Amino acid sequence: MTQTLYLIACAAPPARRLTTPIHTAKKAGWDVCLILTPSAYRWAAEDPTGNLDELRGLTGHPVRHSYKLPSEPDVLPPPDALLVAPLTSNTLNKWAAGISDTLALGLVTEGIGLGLPIVALPHWNKAQGAHPAVRRSVATLREAGVTVLLGDGQTDGGFVPHPPRQGDPDAYPWDAALAALPA
Ligand SMILES: Cc1cc2nc3c(=O)[nH]c(=O)nc-3n(C[C@H](O)[C@H](O)[C@H](O)COP(=O)(O)O)c2cc1C
Repeated sequence: MTQTLYLIACAAPPARRLTTPIHTAKKAGWDVCLILTPSAYRWAAEDPTGNLDELRGLTGHPVRHSYKLPSEPDVLPPPDALLVAPLTSNTLNKWAAGISDTLALGLVTEGIGLGLPIVALPHWNKAQGAHPAVRRSVATLREAGVTVLLGDGQTDGGFVPHPPRQGDPDAYPWDAALAALPA
């Protein structure tokens, strides 16, 4: 039976390359649903280079970014796994603190308790990553069972933070994240 992957993307530059992981995950057999943080949704929906319609067409599902109203039906199938990529330092710290004031955060905070397989691929620069909250939050999520693919010696591969303004979205290791998902 087809398994459903929720790709949950935050507002960091790889969010402008989401067709790449969607194509790869679909080839691997996943039914992919895309959830964006409110900021990432603005990038896709309001920036002239945004590609919301393309992303919707590619997944075949609505692209969600906000909580439904209580009387509204669920429009997405339930997830079998969550891939949080790109993960910003903002969402990382809110997630580790248990905050759920966006749909994306609601899914990932509850996902831990539901025992869903969760892979997170960060994207932040060295200055953002140097804040003491980042190290604590990564440790908290790893203790909770989340696979955080930060190239800091504790995982094979993963994202290695770059100096500010020197990021390369094309070098973002999507393949490492997809390979870390359950087969
Ligand atoms: C052009 C641009 C690039 C950004 N790149 C990053 C980044 O790589 N990592 C990061 O943690 N935040 C980055 N930010 C900041 C986040 O977008 C900001 O913290 C936002 O509130 C994150 O919201 P979210 O976590 O709900 O997506 C960037 C912002 C802009 C405008």
